[in-house]
Amino acid sequence: MQNIPFYQDAFVACLEQFHTEKEPKNLYEPITYILGLGGKRLRPILTLMTAEVFNADYKEALNAALSIEVFHNFSLIHDDIMDDAPLRRGNVTVHEKWDVNTGILSGDAMLIMAYQLFERYEPQVFRDLAKLFSKTALEVCEGQQYDVDFETRDDVTIPEYLKMIEYKTAVLVGAAMQMGAIVAKATEEEQRLIYEFGKNLGIAFQLQDDYLDAFGDPKTFGKQVGGDIIENKKTYLYLKALEYSDAEQQQEIRHLFSINPSDSTDKIQSVKQMFVSSGAAEATKQEILVYTQKAFSVLNALGIDADKKTILKDFGENLMNRSV
Ligand code: IPE
Ligand code: IPE
Ligand code: MG
Ligand code: MG
Ligand code: MG
Repeated sequence: MQNIPFYQDAFVACLEQFHTEKEPKNLYEPITYILGLGGKRLRPILTLMTAEVFNADYKEALNAALSIEVFHNFSLIHDDIMDDAPLRRGNVTVHEKWDVNTGILSGDAMLIMAYQLFERYEPQVFRDLAKLFSKTALEVCEGQQYDVDFETRDDVTIPEYLKMIEYKTAVLVGAAMQMGAIVAKATEEEQRLIYEFGKNLGIAFQLQDDYLDAFGDPKTFGKQVGGDIIENKKTYLYLKALEYSDAEQQQEIRHLFSINPSDSTDKIQSVKQMFVSSGAAEATKQEILVYTQKAFSVLNALGIDADKKTILKDFGENLMNRSV
């Protein structure tokens, strides 16, 4: 197995070969734009790494990795429309640069391209990849709908929140890894375990995403800091802040998460203060650790070499300490 930067470079080189520029340009240019904005490329890296964990050559998994990244970027275009987000990876979002209709259709085309990439595999592998992908993509839609539904609810529970992030984010991380295992023809039990590892890592990842949305550095974060607060997202930070507050503070938090002021500077500042003073910020960091450890404990059941486990653990540790 190679190190993480190796897989990242290999993937980016492959992505550069993936030309989508055709007519009409208003359909294809946004696709080139979003895919060219960079990002961490963590899902495709996981696909390539997993193929090698199960003794295949990472090159066999490049098309599956590409599919996962194209799907992920599709979901970001639509997510930015749904979240009314102005910034993505430090650049203006597709629906702001073009318009909402362009974002919808270019996103749709990317979803189709993601499926199309599986055609490059032999029938059995194609079938297994497509089956996992369909299940996962539908779950992502379910997670995204819960996320939006929760914006206008004030009785969301922590188990509901955890289910929501499992669906909107974590299942794709699990599937990215399982796809590497499918390509490598790993056993069903191996596939199941690596999916569980990825899913738990994905839950930790979304908790961290929520944390950074409030506390990230605007200069480097690449997204609008405080975007979740503006949109009244019921994140772990919010739910824990409620849990740790007295009745008066609870009323204040609920009030702040029911308003949509035209200038949200004060709202963001007040909410962030409450996230810190209530202990919710600290509790979120703790929960990130819990899910990362959960992922690591799944590795114990997996009969792979210690050095491979170390690489996967390093990946998890890096995710936990990221600032973007
Ligand atoms: C953003 O994913 C969407 C979430 C599920 C939190 P990433 O943080 O992986 O985005 P990029 O691809 O690195 O920009
Ligand atoms: C995104 O969750 C999940 C999907 C794109 C499916 P977020 O809305 O938190 O992602 P960011 O913060 O915009 O990247
Ligand atoms: Mg978003
Ligand atoms: Mg969202
Ligand atoms: Mg987010």
